[in-house]
Amino acid sequence: MVDLMKPENMFRESTVGIVIPTYNEYHNLMDLLPQLRDLELHSIYVVDDDSKDGTNQLIDMFPDVKFFVRKNERGLVSAELEGMRRAENDYVVVMDADFSHNPNIIKNMINYAIKTQSDVVVGSRYIKGGYNGDKLSRKIISTVANKLVNLAFHPSVKDVTSGFRVYSKRAYKFLSSQTTIKAGYTGQVDILERLITNNYKCSEFPIDFKPREKGDSKLKIKDIKDFFFFIASKGNFFKYILVGISGVFVSEGLLFALHTFNPYIADIVGIEASITSNFFLNDLWTFKNRKKRFGIYKRLAMHNFFSLIPGIVNFASYIMLYVGGFEYLMANFLGIAIAYLFRYLFSTTLVWGEKKQKFDPKLVESLEN
Ligand code: GDD
Ligand code: MN
Repeated sequence: MVDLMKPENMFRESTVGIVIPTYNEYHNLMDLLPQLRDLELHSIYVVDDDSKDGTNQLIDMFPDVKFFVRKNERGLVSAELEGMRRAENDYVVVMDADFSHNPNIIKNMINYAIKTQSDVVVGSRYIKGGYNGDKLSRKIISTVANKLVNLAFHPSVKDVTSGFRVYSKRAYKFLSSQTTIKAGYTGQVDILERLITNNYKCSEFPIDFKPREKGDSKLKIKDIKDFFFFIASKGNFFKYILVGISGVFVSEGLLFALHTFNPYIADIVGIEASITSNFFLNDLWTFKNRKKRFGIYKRLAMHNFFSLIPGIVNFASYIMLYVGGFEYLMANFLGIAIAYLFRYLFSTTLVWGEKKQKFDPKLVESLEN
């Protein structure tokens, strides 16, 4: 019988395609394509956006590679999706052409996907065993970006911007059918967000990210702007603020309705009612798609508990700002804002925190040997 635990056998059971988006990567492709050929993958797709550096000369030099040249379109992730649309393999690997991603671990990533029955395996710099060897400025951008995404979306995946991934057939077919995925770098987050929301199984595999070998990164300021816009519009922060504002109305409304009866009790009722309405709105709307770590009663209890803390934070900030020279109303307003930020952090990481990704370092090790 074939021992499926042996990497070479697992891998042989499935067909694998590889998709490489390229823009001006002639020199890198010259080195990469022969290396990929040695891996004996089923098919290699290069989706090139009409590069100006002579990439098209490679079409004749590598007849076994499927080149697609897009004339009127640009975008890293839209190029990846174009490749997925052509692919007919059990798994598709997506990677950069610039040697930031080590082709020699592709087999292990595929095996990991098979063994864990994952729909996407994200090559991760930010889990145990992973490493980001990029230059400092890019490391900072990447860390900030990943932290922001984790607050606004899914804390369960650590490296949400990574471009080195394995997709199962059902996952990449699903993605191919989606028409509104962001075309540029932001699309990496968009894709993961959609897969997680639709219950596709995601896992991470440690990678050692290297600075690119030749040429320059295509990441532009515009991509960073797109990214922030995506987080702001699709993330949960905006919803969280709206829920907070609705809570003010609940609290003031009840106080208004009940104050003639007893102004103290009316205020307490108003506050607790707004804490509770905030909870349910956040639970059913803001954090609807979260795979919650805690049960509903525990979330409700935690939410109540963390609703006390902002009062203290608000007061402490007020005192500090006021003593620091701020006008008293301004000091209080800033105090409210700071307290709200704290509250958001507790909510997004704790109360509505997600189940941790099951990561299997032993399995990774066994695949490496
Ligand atoms: N077809 C096409 N069209 N390919 C593109 C485009 C485009 O508009 N822009 C970039 N590429 C290709 C590059 O030629 C390269 O093969 C790959 O996409 C990655 O581009 P880089 O310019 O090297 O990106 P990076 O190193 O800044 O970003 C990488 O790391 C990020 C994580 O920090 C990518 O893997 C990103 O996806 C990832 O988010
Ligand atoms: Mn790169």
